[in-house]
Amino acid sequence: MPLIVPAVKADFALMDNPNPTPRRARRGSPLKGRAAIPGDKSISQRAIILGGLAAGETRISGLLESGDVQSTAGAVRALGASVTRDGPGAWRVTGAKWSSPAQKLDFGNSGTGSRLVMGAVAGQGISATFVGDASLMSRPMARVLDPLKAFGATYEGQGPKALMPVTVHGKMGVKAPRVVVETASAQVKSALLLAAMGAQGRSTIIQRTLTRDHTERMLQGFGWDISIDPDPEGGETISVQGQGIISELRGIPIQVPRDPSSAAFPLVAALIVPGSEIELPNIMLNPRRAGLIETLQDMGAKIDIENRRISGGEIVGDLIVRHSELKGIEVPAGRAPSMIDEYPILAVAASFARGTTAMRGLEELRVKESDRLEAVARGLKLNGVPYTIEGDDLLVEGMGQDGVPGGGLVSTHMDHRIAMSFLTMGMAAQNPVTVDDVTMIATSFPEYEDLMRDLGAVLE
Ligand code: S3P
Repeated sequence: MPLIVPAVKADFALMDNPNPTPRRARRGSPLKGRAAIPGDKSISQRAIILGGLAAGETRISGLLESGDVQSTAGAVRALGASVTRDGPGAWRVTGAKWSSPAQKLDFGNSGTGSRLVMGAVAGQGISATFVGDASLMSRPMARVLDPLKAFGATYEGQGPKALMPVTVHGKMGVKAPRVVVETASAQVKSALLLAAMGAQGRSTIIQRTLTRDHTERMLQGFGWDISIDPDPEGGETISVQGQGIISELRGIPIQVPRDPSSAAFPLVAALIVPGSEIELPNIMLNPRRAGLIETLQDMGAKIDIENRRISGGEIVGDLIVRHSELKGIEVPAGRAPSMIDEYPILAVAASFARGTTAMRGLEELRVKESDRLEAVARGLKLNGVPYTIEGDDLLVEGMGQDGVPGGGLVSTHMDHRIAMSFLTMGMAAQNPVTVDDVTMIATSFPEYEDLMRDLGAVLE
């Protein structure tokens, strides 16, 4: 049943799925075992998009087969490339010259897929209309589309935030610009890098806050001419050769490492459920994604990283996680980009810690799949965890290992990470925690419930 797309609103709103599937998590036995986390969402999305632009074939193994990645695959097909599934996680993309699609590109829940493809459409000099589900239709696209004007792109969107439906008109061969990325967003940066491929000359993209670098790494891997240097005024300067010639990007085999943002849920569950010990093999440990592990270790978490190695161009390692007594700490704003998707689950870990955990500089949380700052705060309140919000900071008063009352019914607002975070809380709280809808979990982690049950979690 399709989701109902609401009338466009001027402000970001918390959305609800009209056909929700609720789920309750409660205390059970300790979590034990080894869990195979699915492939990284950011890398899976990029593999499909770059594969769709490249010459020849890109064979992907370990692809995340989630709703978001399927949406991106559908869009890349509509743009002209061939995207086929050979077996579980094994996909093949054959690139083509993209052309303006007759149909609208429906990105479902995927902010990353839609924003990166907007950049690619701009650079390929074609036009396309972008739509999505109720959550995506309420997220601001102006943050990507306005910077893309430097590459000659124009657009029509809804209101000042350029909500979807959005139509983007790209332009090729624009004189390569110099653009400073004002937002601490890998999506915005990546869209600009993909647009730069169609410019004439060498574009300079300056990023003041260092965000995940998967697009840069993959472009290099595909043989594109891109260099990265520290910027004297802070951050880094990325210089990208624009060719506009599709054959310069060559498809390569891609092995997708396992997603640290998905691993975060069983990881925190094992930390807070007494007696637990689990192993999470092959998790990507790219330093720009590893902020949660660092933060939890600062809080006293017993997380051992074994067998660190390079796989598919990324650092990976096996995580051994044991139940731990956690203590509250200061989490500086500077760490936010390396754990931006992990604050909801960190807030849950912080609820079971002793003392206050202060998470600073969370403004970007307000424009995720839901207003995550608001959604987390409501969830904490419903489960009896004291907190304060000061500007863009969230301070959670930890209640200790056995002190979280739970018992709440949490609205997930079409946000997969809110759903998984509060189910995790229910696994260790005094009373079960219910979330109103688990449908959206399939956008990033379709295996979540089976995987958690195999470890011993009770989800009913
Ligand atoms: C992503 C970047 C982040 C993150 C999202 C995935 C990416 O978004 O929240 O889940 O793959 O580039 P922002 O760029 O908006 O921070």
